[in-house]
Amino acid sequence: MSMNNQISTVAVCGAGTMGAGIAQVAAGKGFKTILYDLQDAVIEKAADKIRQQLQKLVDKGKISSDQQAQTLSNLSFTTDISSCKAEVIIEAIVENVAVKVELFSKLAAINDPGTILCSNTSSLPIKEIAAGLPQPERVVGMHFFNPAPVMKLVEVVSAEQTATEVAEKIYGLAKQFGKTPVHVKDSPGFIVNRVARHYYLEAMQVAGQGVADIASIDRLMVSLGFKMGPFELMDLIGNDVNLAVSQSLYDAFGKAERFKPGALQVEKVAAGELGRKTGKGFYDYQNR
Ligand code: NAI
Repeated sequence: MSMNNQISTVAVCGAGTMGAGIAQVAAGKGFKTILYDLQDAVIEKAADKIRQQLQKLVDKGKISSDQQAQTLSNLSFTTDISSCKAEVIIEAIVENVAVKVELFSKLAAINDPGTILCSNTSSLPIKEIAAGLPQPERVVGMHFFNPAPVMKLVEVVSAEQTATEVAEKIYGLAKQFGKTPVHVKDSPGFIVNRVARHYYLEAMQVAGQGVADIASIDRLMVSLGFKMGPFELMDLIGNDVNLAVSQSLYDAFGKAERFKPGALQVEKVAAGELGRKTGKGFYDYQNR
């Protein structure tokens, strides 16, 4: 397989919680970065968020105003999929296999055969996302953590069909992004979302059984040394995204009781209380 070794342009699809952060990271490291979403309003919100984040970094002395200007000039925003042409494309859209497959087939049709398609999925099989594409060997997981500009870990997920050189190239790109990549085999929840699932699920059991209220559980876990308690972390992740991940692990492990989605997260999603992104989740963020 011939491969262009130089990556200069990265496209990020989905400008929500993760996509905006990933685009900020890529542009900040000197890559021409295209950020794509379906609606202008989402794109504008993401552009504002990135501008605010960069300004905060300048105010704190973490980047210079030249770096801020350079990062902004590396970014372009679009709602037109035909602009998503790049050597590497990272999707961070809704956690749904069918929607991701549809996006990747559209991207494969307009890009060079050498383009690498990365999924930021938290839990869906990379093998299924790649199935049916003309070049499934060029599909790989590139799983960032929230908030993407801050968290160092990136899981580079290889499915059976992923070419070794593709995984290596994305491992290298993660390093260029200033991250700490780890190779992982395609398996439900990869490492972090499988091991950490019980942090959320058991906490919901404790709260649901009235053993303690959510604020007490969060406070206690933080006092033990966890950076965030399970409920504030679920609000940061997004309750819809977190529920989709719970459901996907539950299904993948043959409906094993230990991965059963929590009643509390199901209720939050049904009520549209998705967390920070909607202003309300387990906590209220509107007046904060
Ligand atoms: P989000 O709900 O904040 O954003 C998703 C964005 O994708 C929305 O702006 C939506 O308009 C857009 N979108 C949906 N369908 C699209 C399509 N067909 N084409 C283009 N854009 C489309 O979701 P979030 O939290 O950013 O998650 C995105 C992905 O990243 C999911 O696969 C999730 O599992 C994964 N992830 C999420 C983390 C988190 O903490 N929220 C952490 C790591 C991975």
